[in-house]
Amino acid sequence: MKPTVFLTRQLPPAVMERLARETDLAWQREDRVATRAEVIAGMKGRQALFCNILDQVDGELLDACPGVKVIVNFGVGFNNIDVAAATARKIPVTNTPGVLTDATADMTFALLLAVARRLGEGERIIRANKWVGWQPLQLLAADVTGATLGVIGFGRIGQAVARRAKAFGMRVIYWNRGAVREPIAFEATRMSFESVLRQSDFVSLHVAYNSNTHHLLDEPQFALMKPTAFVINTARGAVINEAALVQALQTKRIAGAALDVFEREPQITPGLAELENVVLAPHLGSATIGTRTQMGMIATDNLLAVCAGRRPPNCVNPEALA
Ligand code: 8YV
Repeated sequence: MKPTVFLTRQLPPAVMERLARETDLAWQREDRVATRAEVIAGMKGRQALFCNILDQVDGELLDACPGVKVIVNFGVGFNNIDVAAATARKIPVTNTPGVLTDATADMTFALLLAVARRLGEGERIIRANKWVGWQPLQLLAADVTGATLGVIGFGRIGQAVARRAKAFGMRVIYWNRGAVREPIAFEATRMSFESVLRQSDFVSLHVAYNSNTHHLLDEPQFALMKPTAFVINTARGAVINEAALVQALQTKRIAGAALDVFEREPQITPGLAELENVVLAPHLGSATIGTRTQMGMIATDNLLAVCAGRRPPNCVNPEALA
């Protein structure tokens, strides 16, 4: 018997083919977020809920889907799921760590370079047909080589960003709430959160979003930063108080920001998009064909394992398996 699955949105072709082969699959076929009613109807008589960041999974939804055996999240972050509610109902929740580390670190660096070197501003000048030719003082930017990168959250992605920074001749300092698990094979200095903010030319966020990291960067933190510093966010939007960020940028308290994630996606806090010193991307951190395919494959491995009574490779609430 193949496991029965409801997928809330279509994934890359290789993942769809595997799911069609190895599971009894139903999915929401339109290219939009599934409504709660569609999820409940789709889950009728099905075991696995295969969801993504835009699907809010809470106790009420789980009670409306009585047969649910596993919640398979497509992504490493799982703040769209009330994990406590799932654990209380003995439902394992799985995620897809590891496979998106490099893609997300690459995106972080793309944003860092773009905001430092004023790429968006330059592109807007050309597209508006306003370029009059080379100028000795046009769009003079910040240096990356020799600058200090402050990594907030030194897990897999934070360390992958740090490795890239070393190749660019940057000094790396970091803050991490708990112990750093992996041994670090390059020079990086651990500091207090405040010291990282005070000393960095670029502050890059790589923490998971939860109640401890909500608005980790807010007005008092921007006040600690150098007026020449930039903030890069590829983690979760609400790690930053976006209104305070707009204020810090408008008043030139900090020099700029490059954001792949937003507090109320897809809404952008008023004022942000009007600022020249901001680079904006629509949550593309893991958006490569290879990475999204691997995420789907890992999610499928998790799904098949739970449905076969095995331990899934990536369970965020192992207590639900006990
Ligand atoms: C995903 C992400 O695209 O993995 C994450 O936490 O933010 C992205 O890589 C997103 O989660 C899709 O569900």
